[in-house]
Amino acid sequence: MKTFGIGIVGCGNISTVYFHNTPLFKGLEVRACADLNQAAAERQAEKFKVRAVSLADMLADPTIDIIVNLTVPNAHFDVSMAALNAGKHVYSEKPLCLTLDQGQKLLATAKAKGVLIGVAPDTFLGAAGRKARELVDAGKIGKVTGGTAFIMGRGMEHWHPDPSFFFQPGGGPILDMGPYYISALVNVLGPVKRVSATSTIGKPERIISTPDSPKLGQAIKVETPTTIMSVLEFASGASVLFGASWDVMKHSHPPLELYGTLATMKIPDPNFFGGAVEIADASGEWVSVDTSVDPAGAINWPVEEPKNANYRVLGIADLADAVRNGSPHRSSATVGVHVLDVLLSILRSGEERRPVDITTPCQQPAAWTNDALSALFA
Ligand SMILES: NC(=O)c1ccc[n+]([C@@H]2O[C@H](COP(=O)([O-])OP(=O)(O)OC[C@H]3O[C@@H](n4cnc5c(N)ncnc54)[C@H](O)[C@@H]3O)[C@@H](O)[C@H]2O)c1
Repeated sequence: MKTFGIGIVGCGNISTVYFHNTPLFKGLEVRACADLNQAAAERQAEKFKVRAVSLADMLADPTIDIIVNLTVPNAHFDVSMAALNAGKHVYSEKPLCLTLDQGQKLLATAKAKGVLIGVAPDTFLGAAGRKARELVDAGKIGKVTGGTAFIMGRGMEHWHPDPSFFFQPGGGPILDMGPYYISALVNVLGPVKRVSATSTIGKPERIISTPDSPKLGQAIKVETPTTIMSVLEFASGASVLFGASWDVMKHSHPPLELYGTLATMKIPDPNFFGGAVEIADASGEWVSVDTSVDPAGAINWPVEEPKNANYRVLGIADLADAVRNGSPHRSSATVGVHVLDVLLSILRSGEERRPVDITTPCQQPAAWTNDALSALFA
């Protein structure tokens, strides 16, 4: 089996889990890393025993097959485009880019260069996302007519060391956290056809309060909506109410609930890979389906004190498998562009106070069996 050389671009907060998880999968090896901030690249290079290089050197390196783009959202397009133009496969953190036009350019360039481009999240490919998909596909909850999705909290300025980007265009709860929810819903229900939303900025300014941040006490001007309430209409006929906010101190909504003609289903936090899927039929009793026994479901993160299942890199393993076999991959940028269209359309609907039709085509990603997925683990 070919081993794919990986180059990680962007050595910030999320890069650690990518470095750490890559060896969990067969045929993947991180060989180099790069960052605008040379010290950040050198820190991760030393910790994970890889080479710290410039982006240009990484792109010219024939031993690097896949560029993993973990830069901040407004750098995603340029870095991914440069990598595609260098003939590399790309896997980008979310959001894929900031405009639909950029998304289409990335897809067209990947096609022209004969390489694949994938995008996070790959969380929906975890044990819980796969179980929810399996149960819906098997008709266990009947026809899905509705649902709710809620990602609400008080913001990011109290835990992230450098949270400014969350409050600029490209950030906000819709583009930052929305990809997990919309991807999870598209995985289970298929494409979205129309969205309607309202939006507002809760506080014009945020003060960084992350205890050990070098920017502690600095103010961030908020330039993107922080509370967005929307309704998503799926091509399947289902409608999902989606609340996304960083202006909420506390709430009691589950992350995702689907209402079927036979049963209601609760899907655990789509920011993680595991958790229990719960179903209640006409009897009114919740039945819990544990997914921690399934591949990519066992609790493993954070390493020092594991509380969640975190198998980031699963989408890269799927992409590499697709390159080997010429088969479609699941967290593909085609799905990513549709998800981006939904997210940007929610923001546009909120701004323009009118429903927005979703124009980008998207096929529901192929279902993934435990056996097929297990085969990718080392
Ligand atoms: N932090 C998380 O928990 C988390 C979780 C999931 C996804 N993400 C996503 O991962 C991405 C990175 O997030 P983060 O929290 O690690 O951010 P971060 O700010 O901690 O790290 C980003 C790094 O990218 C570097 N960078 C920026 N532009 C660059 C460029 N043009 N070329 C090379 N390096 C560049 C920065 O110097 C920085 O070191 C974002 O898209 C974010 O949405 C983050």
